[in-house]
Amino acid sequence: MAFDKVADISEMSMQEELKQVIYVSEKTDLSDDSLTSIFDASQRNNPEKNITGCLLIGSNSYLQLLEGPTVAVEELYSKIKIDSRHKNVKKLCEQGIEEKLFSSWSMKFTPFNNLDWSNQEFESGNFLKITSEGSINVFHSINRLMTG
Ligand SMILES: Cc1cc2nc3c(=O)[nH]c(=O)nc-3n(C[C@H](O)[C@H](O)[C@H](O)COP(=O)(O)O)c2cc1C
Repeated sequence: MAFDKVADISEMSMQEELKQVIYVSEKTDLSDDSLTSIFDASQRNNPEKNITGCLLIGSNSYLQLLEGPTVAVEELYSKIKIDSRHKNVKKLCEQGIEEKLFSSWSMKFTPFNNLDWSNQEFESGNFLKITSEGSINVFHSINRLMTG
């Protein structure tokens, strides 16, 4: 019994700290090729870094949630920030988390018109003026839709 408890505690302390980053950016390339190559990179790289998340594809913008071990998320965000397929990358949220929202997705790609919006700008796929709180709510609703 006592031994089990010690094992539990040491396992907990070995778990990596998780972080979540959400950003919004402006597309510079509206082609499908761009999306395909972003998708390929996420499927190739994210699993080995234990990164998961969701990329919301707007008409003129991207809204992405990255989650995973702190250092891995920071490294990926630095890489993504300088990617020329988008510009004006603006961080909306950066926080430590206990649990992932998209734990079974290397990166869930979600087209904006798959969702119900009650906001005209978002309805048209423009996320550039979304607030930090708004962006968190969007990903929580996507998560709720998935889990029913
Ligand atoms: C909107 C957007 C989202 C991206 N998401 C990811 C991602 O989740 N994972 C990833 O590895 N690269 C992502 N990228 C691509 C990275 O910027 C970078 O090109 C890629 O990680 C390089 O991969 P490589 O080192 O395997 O060539 C994204 C790029 C953009 C523009």
